[in-house]
Amino acid sequence: MISSPLMTVMVDAVRKASRGLRRDFGEVENLQVSRKGPGDFVSAADRKAEEVLRDALMKARPGYGMVLEENGTIEGTDKSHTWHVDPLDGTANFLHGIPHFAISVGLEREGQIVAGVIYDPVKDELFVAERGKGAFLNNRRLRVSGRNDMADALVAYGTPYLGRGNHPRLLREVGAVMAVSGGTRRMGSAALDLAYVACGRLDAYWERDLQTYDFAAGVILVREAGGFVTAADGAAEPLATRSVCAGNETLQRELLAILKKAQG
Ligand code: IPD
Ligand code: CA
Ligand code: CA
Repeated sequence: MISSPLMTVMVDAVRKASRGLRRDFGEVENLQVSRKGPGDFVSAADRKAEEVLRDALMKARPGYGMVLEENGTIEGTDKSHTWHVDPLDGTANFLHGIPHFAISVGLEREGQIVAGVIYDPVKDELFVAERGKGAFLNNRRLRVSGRNDMADALVAYGTPYLGRGNHPRLLREVGAVMAVSGGTRRMGSAALDLAYVACGRLDAYWERDLQTYDFAAGVILVREAGGFVTAADGAAEPLATRSVCAGNETLQRELLAILKKAQG
């Protein structure tokens, strides 16, 4: 585990916000059967979790800026630090009672992601990473998968929501990956997809049309676990293009080449 004042701030904030989220997830199942459905309830749960995170992070680091999913961007007095906060990543899973979602908090310092915390409250899995200090799941040091053959690899991807993104391009890419990989997954939480690459459960992952709070924490987790992350077009820094391609050194490179070829 990493013991630094920064990690303490991040982990405390995330754990605090997770209590309400876990409680609210327990209610969702009952709401599934109601005619109105759980939609409004889930938006409220999401907003509540974000308020807890915002207040805790602001109190601990008053000058830092923030990019929040629900409340947009807050300019800080300290221009070199920005939090990227997703209070509930995997909303569609949460809404449907599927226990696969997380809170994700990343810290950007002068254009680089330097720390990240992703917490899955249902499985009680806490993923943390800080630049130069490694990546951990609970207390276990993380390492990306050692598989080097795409034919054995489990590759995850994300699908854009209805009316967004380039669906035909994604279908071409998924087709190309399915043709050469051991298997594909669409799991529903970008943050956990990256965390799973960091711990070797997934071998590689790509997605476009993301927001920075979906992947900021995950990027540092993968890198600190010895993996590689670029934008989906190969650009070194995913923050600018808001797309990601992640994996170990071999499979990340190979996945990039498959995606490029699928462009036609
Ligand atoms: C979504 C999830 C999903 C990804 C979407 C994201 P949300 O975040 O990370 O896996 O495919 O692009 O928007 O809406 O659940 O916070
Ligand atoms: Ca969200
Ligand atoms: Ca998200």
